[in-house]
Amino acid sequence: MSRVRIAEPAAIEDAARLLTLGRLVAFPTETVYGLGGDALSTSACQAIFQAKNRPADHPLIVHLPDAAQLDRWAVNIPEAAWKLAKAFWPGPLTLIVPKHPDVPNTVTGGQNAIGLRVPNHPVALALLSAFGSGIAAPSANRFQHVSPTRASHVLDDLGERVELILDGGPCSVGLESTIVNLTGAQPQILRPGAIGKEALQAVIGRPIVDHAVCAGQELRVSGAMAIHYAPQTPCFLCATSRLGKVLLDYGQAGLLTYSASLPNHPVRHHIRLSGQPMAYGHELYQALRTLDKANVEAIIIESPPEIKSWHAVNDRLRKAAKPYSK
Ligand code: TXA
Ligand code: MG
Repeated sequence: MSRVRIAEPAAIEDAARLLTLGRLVAFPTETVYGLGGDALSTSACQAIFQAKNRPADHPLIVHLPDAAQLDRWAVNIPEAAWKLAKAFWPGPLTLIVPKHPDVPNTVTGGQNAIGLRVPNHPVALALLSAFGSGIAAPSANRFQHVSPTRASHVLDDLGERVELILDGGPCSVGLESTIVNLTGAQPQILRPGAIGKEALQAVIGRPIVDHAVCAGQELRVSGAMAIHYAPQTPCFLCATSRLGKVLLDYGQAGLLTYSASLPNHPVRHHIRLSGQPMAYGHELYQALRTLDKANVEAIIIESPPEIKSWHAVNDRLRKAAKPYSK
């Protein structure tokens, strides 16, 4: 049976012991909760794919206790990787680099590139240091569902499929890490996150291209699939000025907004988030889960501005919702 335990030292020790036995534990990071297993164990990685219902060719991120372990997991590490690790780890940044031949293929879904990250969360770091090696951890949700930002979300999604859930409270960032691929001719962002392109470029001193620009890239990134991070209820993105009109099309709709001024329409299930992108991102997945449970016909989401500071949020919203087009 799955157990949720407050992430105190004894629970963290137990979690590390379970990992050593090849079992799975969920733990908090600053971005979202991860479903962890021993990254060097083929059977533990297979169990992760199974628990999530995730195809086995979608690579898992390996979490490390510190940047000094980079060269145990990767080879031909480019200078840019060391610079980014130094600047942003521990933190919400995943680096894709060439995999060390000693690391089993299961964790990378058969690819020669590996995703590595040192998370910035005291519980994750304590678990990594107690375990002493890399922990493979995708977000602890069912494949293509919304990522969990609370221990209760993990329980809702994975239930008995995970033996122990360490409860470290809500995740501070709330959106998954920025992913930078350093295996090609040019660094590219595969998934935007809290660390933006400009900050990354400033550290490596060269331009980074966005994923959308890299046509024909051969890495498989499940986060880059069109349907991802999606609630079960149909979700629609809608301009602020059209919200009132669109809501008239539904008897029961959920509404997610950020503007202080509201459409003049009574909606029972309305969540208003911050107009500030970081604070909005922090609450987004919790809000989507709440509205998804509200038994509404559709979730109408006020489109945030298409500007840089909202980039990571807009990326997730486009994966969760379609533009409203009636
Ligand atoms: O913030 C995060 O990154 C969270 C926490 C738990 O660390 N993890 C996370 O993992 O979001 P996941 O598996 O849900 O999403 C990771 C993304 C996937 O789209 C995967 O395809 C991509 O990273 N990825 C992992 N390893 C990769 C690799 N070797 N090459 C290309 N993409 C990779
Ligand atoms: Mg995920």
